[in-house]
Amino acid sequence: MQTLNIIGCGRVGKTLAHLWHARQVVQIQDVLTTSPASAAQATAFIGAGHAVHKLSQMRPADLWMVAVPDRQIAASAGAMAQALAGLAPAMAFHCSGALDSSTLAPLHECGWQVASAHCILSFASPATAVQQFAGTPCGIEGETAASARLQPVFAAIGARCFALEADKKVLYHAAAVFATNFLPVLQSVAEDLWRDSGVPPELLPQLRAALLRNAVDNLLALGPAGALTGPAARGDTDLVNRQAQAVAQWNATAGNAYRALSELASRLARAAPADSPASPLKP
Ligand SMILES: NC(=O)c1ccc[n+]([C@@H]2O[C@H](COP(=O)([O-])OP(=O)(O)OC[C@H]3O[C@@H](n4cnc5c(N)ncnc54)[C@H](OP(=O)(O)O)[C@@H]3O)[C@@H](O)[C@H]2O)c1
Repeated sequence: MQTLNIIGCGRVGKTLAHLWHARQVVQIQDVLTTSPASAAQATAFIGAGHAVHKLSQMRPADLWMVAVPDRQIAASAGAMAQALAGLAPAMAFHCSGALDSSTLAPLHECGWQVASAHCILSFASPATAVQQFAGTPCGIEGETAASARLQPVFAAIGARCFALEADKKVLYHAAAVFATNFLPVLQSVAEDLWRDSGVPPELLPQLRAALLRNAVDNLLALGPAGALTGPAARGDTDLVNRQAQAVAQWNATAGNAYRALSELASRLARAAPADSPASPLKP
């Protein structure tokens, strides 16, 4: 069985290592975090592995997972290249969605194979994520040989792996921002507007629940074009302009967002089939 060392073992590291250990996919070896206490907590959650306090204590391993926060990946790779110079080059991968494997360049320059593997799941809590993981799409990017080596390791715990190109990763990750991160932002703007236009605050939770549930149900049933409604989708340019002006007076940034999103909504409606509720051709 291949051995795995882990540098950074928080939400993602704990979840993946727990699954790999439970399925006996790799042998979890040494685990390094920012403190002995958190490393020990990680090995306890995984049910395997040896907590270490510094890079120089880590034994040789076939695979090294660098699951530190994105802003720490390059520095970790640099520190590994220095501290592990005495070990035979192995394979390292990180788990970022936005960064590609060139972030591990200091290791690549020392002869290591490098890759990245981004699982599209919100790892809010490792205990929950291990239950949710099966079927998670996982974008793998890196050298061909490294990607080929990594793919079965993720597939063995139920990931649905697909290939990602390095120069597309920023756009790919921006998609996830559109799909999830902007939703609370839009909701927050809507609730501020409702408050400022006189909707009783006690009704806001009900409005939030009803409209979100309705939108998600429609999206899941009909897809984005089929679920689209509203003035831009109907081609009501006059109302779009009046609303954009009113929102811009209320808040200039929200006004710009309203105009940009209305333009995207019009495009989506134009692309929708004629019998779809979003189509401007529908009576
Ligand atoms: N969270 C998600 O939903 C998600 C989803 C997909 C991909 N990712 C990616 O997965 C990676 C890890 O994210 P995460 O959410 O698991 O982060 P996290 O929960 O914050 O865990 C980060 C881990 O790195 C350790 N760490 C930080 N700096 C370190 C250093 N210099 N040396 C060694 N260990 C260090 C932390 O130590 P302590 O435990 O001592 O704090 C912690 O164990 C990121 O690249 C992220 O973009 C995250």
